[in-house]
Formats: sequence, C-alpha cells, structure tokens
Amino acid sequence: MKVALIAVALTILAYFFGKGIRKHSVKLYVAATILSIASLFLIDQIKIMEMFVHGYIGLSFLFIVMFTGALKKKSTISKKLMTIRKEYSILGFIFIMPHATNYVIELFSDLSKIEYWIGLTAFVIMIPLFITSFSKIRSMYKYPTWKKLHRWSYLAYTLIFVHIIIVAEPRDAIAYTVIFIPYLGLKLIKEYKIYISKKELSTP
Ligand code: HEM
Repeated sequence: MKVALIAVALTILAYFFGKGIRKHSVKLYVAATILSIASLFLIDQIKIMEMFVHGYIGLSFLFIVMFTGALKKKSTISKKLMTIRKEYSILGFIFIMPHATNYVIELFSDLSKIEYWIGLTAFVIMIPLFITSFSKIRSMYKYPTWKKLHRWSYLAYTLIFVHIIIVAEPRDAIAYTVIFIPYLGLKLIKEYKIYISKKELSTP
C-alpha cells in the first residue's frame, strides 16, 4: 500500500534528518508548493505526479502527524517525530492542496457526491489549522486557545478516514482501516490517561 510505504520512508527521514528538516523548513515549504502546483499541470506527462494529485503524498505526511499525537510521549520515536510534527503537518496540507483543487473542480459538475463533500469538509477544517501552524501566527495565540483550536484535527482525521475508505479499492480500504484502528486505540488510551492524571491532581 502506497501511503504506508511513503509514511515509513518519511518516518526514517524524520528520524535521521529531523534537524535538517527543521533548519530548511521554509525551503521545503516553497519546494512543496512548486511541486504541488506543477503536479496539477504535469499529471498526464509525468506518472509520479499522480501520487500528489491522488492525495497519497499529503495523506502520508498527515498519517505521521496523527500517529505522533497518539504515541507515548517518552518513546524515542515519538521524541524524534515530535520535533518535525509542525513541519510535516504544514507539508501534508501543502501536498493535499492539488488533490483538493482537482476534485473540487470535479465536484462542481455533480454536487451529489457525498464522498467529495466529506473530503472537502476535512479540507476546510484543516485550513485554519494549517494557517495557525506557522510559528509567527501560532505565537499570537495563548497555548490553551491554540490547543483548543487544534483539537478540530481529530474531526478532520476521522472525516479523512471515512473519505478514503469510501473512495479506495476494497483491498486498500482494509489496509487504511488496519492503520486507523490502532491509531484510534492508542489515542483513546493516551487521552484517558491524561484525563485520569488531571483528575487525580484536582482531587484534594
Ligand atoms: C484533507 C483532505 C483530503 C485527504 C487527506 C484526501 C485523501 C485521499 C486519498 C489518500 C485518496 C486515495 C484513496 C485510495 O484510492 O487509496 C483520495 C481519493 C479521492 N479523493 Fe480525497 N482527500 C482529501 C480531500 C478531498 C476533497 C476536498 C475532495 C473533493 C472535493 C476529494 C475527492 C477525492 C476523490 C474523488 C477520490 C477518488 C479518486 C482518487 O483516488 O484520486 N478528496 N483522497
């Protein structure tokens, strides 16, 4: 499955080149934007551009961002991924833009396609999250307000999951489910532990 393979490659990159990714983040955003725009025009000429327009590259970045939020904070892999989470979430959104643009245009010719609307809702939810991920804009918010806003990402992830299992081939839909269910499990366990520890702290 493409997304899983790309996500593994991106995890390895984050593990060994996290520092470089952070240092050159702006250059990476510019390159990602150029590549994303180019993919819309070159999809018929260059086969690999399909990976951008069909949403695989964007989703792979977003998968890592999702899983990082669900992993145990103290694990080595979580520590490594945490350092590039912001960069990957920005890159994920940039790379999902050609996909959204391509199909939003298609949606106008037939407004009845529910799977398109689900994808579009996820995408719209992600716009303010994307904008507020940039450090300069993030610093305008108090952390709890920013965090509260970013809780919307869970709704976006859930909608993305529903969107892709509707549109994917049955074999891929099973693979996406196999990935998403452990994420949901890990995330729920982590949130439950945080809830319990906060409760214990607040009880005299
Ligand atoms: C955050 C936003 C989105 C993500 C992460 C996303 C992700 C994906 C992925 C990974 C696939 C390929 C699934 C597979 O075949 O394995 C896909 C397919 C599809 N998506 Fe999205 N999508 C998003 C938004 C949208 C939007 C806004 C639309 C339309 C308005 C849309 C329409 C479609 C359609 C029509 C397909 C099936 C055709 C294809 O595989 O290219 N998506 N999406």
